[in-house]
Amino acid sequence: MKTYLVTGGAGFIGSNFIIYMLNKYDDVKIINVDALTYAGNLENLKSVENNPNYKFVQADIRDREAIQKIFDENTVDYVVNFAAESHVDRSISDPDIFVQTNVLGTVNLLNIAKAAWSTGDDTYRDGVKFHQVSTDEVYGSLGETGFFMETTPLCPHSPYSSSKAASDMFVKAYHDTYKLPINITRCSNNYGPYQFPEKLIPLIMNNTLLHKDLPVYGDGMQVRDWLYVDDHCKAIDMVIRDGVDGEVYNVGGHNERPNIFIVKTIIQYIKENVDETVGEHMIKYVADRKGHDRRYGIDPQKIKDALGWYPETCFEVGIKKTLKWYLDNQDWVKNVTSGEYQKYYEKMYKDK
Ligand code: NAD
Ligand code: TYD
Repeated sequence: MKTYLVTGGAGFIGSNFIIYMLNKYDDVKIINVDALTYAGNLENLKSVENNPNYKFVQADIRDREAIQKIFDENTVDYVVNFAAESHVDRSISDPDIFVQTNVLGTVNLLNIAKAAWSTGDDTYRDGVKFHQVSTDEVYGSLGETGFFMETTPLCPHSPYSSSKAASDMFVKAYHDTYKLPINITRCSNNYGPYQFPEKLIPLIMNNTLLHKDLPVYGDGMQVRDWLYVDDHCKAIDMVIRDGVDGEVYNVGGHNERPNIFIVKTIIQYIKENVDETVGEHMIKYVADRKGHDRRYGIDPQKIKDALGWYPETCFEVGIKKTLKWYLDNQDWVKNVTSGEYQKYYEKMYKDK
């Protein structure tokens, strides 16, 4: 039985990862450590909350005592660090919390894991690992050709991607300096159930259903490389199990789409399945995001060759599954978009 300390497990990808792991394995124990910020929601975990191999602890990854207590009370084998401030637009208006959580929080976890796992001078208990869940955004932006490889120099532009790059560098430093066993995965944009509707796909879905403007930044021709969330979870699972110590693995499914294509796909889906009055007239081109990265595209050859990973859900299937999930889970959407979300939306989009 391996014990995974999963941070940020009440967020979008973290909750999908916990569900994926508990459905797949009987011999893993998961401790979900989440501060429950605006992005964390225990409703996501309803299907596993009574699983005897699952436990939730509300704690902040920056909190030394709280994290230490978890290590004292459990034999943690793996730390899987999802916890982060994750939204680029929020990082542009309020960068400080991104440094706090993404950088200082990660360093706190590294310090505690390193001490808990230590068996001597730079030696550690067998079978332990710190897995950092990172993003392709640390590589910066691509032109019309080429892909991000693990060897691509880091060149982040937004406060969000800079904080993720900094935390990646600390994880690498703990490996290079103290030989702490680590891996880093850098994945492209995810989509799927439980994504908070500040991100493009659920935001456009929600606005279309509510007959609100559909805000497209700049010319809408920025390209993102979309991956269904379960394929990301599969990659993390494989890297934790079989990844070579110290290595970085890029994760992406060669599925690049311009934003405007995504927006039109969502409109079309709702038109066909829910409400024929919606249409492209709802699109509103608004002021571009500051420092907006033009294109992301992952070269996943390393994880394919080394671990046999491949994406199982093609975009055409995944997007329909995702949009249907949002339609079937309107109570979830209503809960997360009440209260604070309204204030966020007003502040973020009023001058656009
Ligand atoms: P999210 O914003 O949906 O969830 C983040 C979770 O972290 C929330 O549950 C929140 O409560 C928790 N959290 C925030 N601050 C915390 C703190 N100080 N202590 C403890 N918990 C805290 O994010 P997501 O989209 O699920 O992303 C998860 C991770 O994956 C992030 O590290 C992100 O950088 C990375 N990532 C995301 C994507 C994507 O497309 N969403 C792609 C690649 C990598
Ligand atoms: P987002 O989902 O925020 O992910 P990221 O910035 O991490 O890639 O945005 C995806 C793309 O969609 C990005 O190019 C910005 C764009 N976008 C819009 O055009 N309008 C919106 O309202 C949002 C939230 C994003």
